[in-house]
Amino acid sequence: MFLTTVGVHRTNGSENTGTRLPAHLQDLSSHHERTVQTLAEDFARRFGDRPTIYQAPGRVNLIGEHTDYNDGFVMPAAIGMCTRVAVAPRDDGKLVVRSENFSEESTFLLDQLPARGSGHWSDYIAGVAKVLAESGIPLTGATLLICGNVPLGAGLSSSASVEVAVGWALMELAGQKIDRTKLAQLCQRAENEFVGARCGIMDQFVASHGKRDHALLLDCRSLEYRLLPLCADARLVICNTMVRHAIAGGEYNQRRAECEAGVKFLSKHFPHVRALRDATLEELASLSGELPDKILRRCRHVISEDARVVQAAEALTRNELSTFGGLMRESHRSLRDDYEVSCAELDLMVQLAEQAQGVYGARMTGGGFGGCTINLVDAGCVDAFQQSVSEGYERATGRKPEIYVCSAADGVGLA
Ligand code: GLA
Repeated sequence: MFLTTVGVHRTNGSENTGTRLPAHLQDLSSHHERTVQTLAEDFARRFGDRPTIYQAPGRVNLIGEHTDYNDGFVMPAAIGMCTRVAVAPRDDGKLVVRSENFSEESTFLLDQLPARGSGHWSDYIAGVAKVLAESGIPLTGATLLICGNVPLGAGLSSSASVEVAVGWALMELAGQKIDRTKLAQLCQRAENEFVGARCGIMDQFVASHGKRDHALLLDCRSLEYRLLPLCADARLVICNTMVRHAIAGGEYNQRRAECEAGVKFLSKHFPHVRALRDATLEELASLSGELPDKILRRCRHVISEDARVVQAAEALTRNELSTFGGLMRESHRSLRDDYEVSCAELDLMVQLAEQAQGVYGARMTGGGFGGCTINLVDAGCVDAFQQSVSEGYERATGRKPEIYVCSAADGVGLA
């Protein structure tokens, strides 16, 4: 989650395989064939073996931000940008991992995996191997070549896509039957305990369970989910501000702590409140004289956001895109004013989107403090949208944004 590259954009393959992402207009599935082929060839050349290649997607969250670690509701979709892992077994008990994005190789002994990560990209791989082994999966040695085109540090879950692709590859190699929910939970644990980022379950869950042309409505407490067909008349357009503020990781953990403080307070008065998911805005308001203002606002965001996700799911089911867009707008304002995880660049990007024609709704997506916005745009207005937002943003900031027109993709599997 927090592979932070402040203000720097890196896309998979752009430096190493020559498949640079165009700045606009891509359903990236057209890049898959060539990249899978290239990855197999690179693997054969470097390691002298024929690999199997798996891939897991990045994600964009339509609505339901900072609700997953509060046992609440989220509505992400998997996207066409993904991480691919080429893998072949080896019989010396080693995990040899090469990243094409970083042009670096790391080696681990399966029976001597480190206890914790060291801040290196390979933490995501070693961490997943460690958690799988601890859960009783008999891993075999493996050579892995990893290559991804999910922009790093852009809030599109490049880390979860690495974890889930690697987890799937290692389980396949071990001949294990894979339960996708279990895989998501193990990958989340790797990120929480090994990498040290206290993320919720959303990213790993949708990387595992995502479905082409569908958003996924997830109850983060029960882990029950529903696939919601996306309307063919509208497009998901992601606008990358190209900034990631260095405070993101620390602020994320602080928001979690503030939510926990809110639960502690609420549960004293309302014992049924185990997580913010259980509280109502009325219950919260009844404590407004006693709760510190900041905690009150954090809780108000989470409680109201949960309600918005449920309403948004109903709107999507009834194809009421204007209602859905209105909820996205409210979500952004709540994240900006109450949860305070937006930033000037995200606010500007949303403002520019709201001035464009054919936009149902726009909001920041992911953890915040930079990264991307998600926009629901009428299919016929996408080209004009890209142009006006891109020009407006560059004029105001001097930075050229990247804009991705996405369709929802499948979760992890064979590439
Ligand atoms: C990051 C985390 C997720 C979720 C979002 C905010 O992406 O990895 O678990 O908490 O932030 O909604």
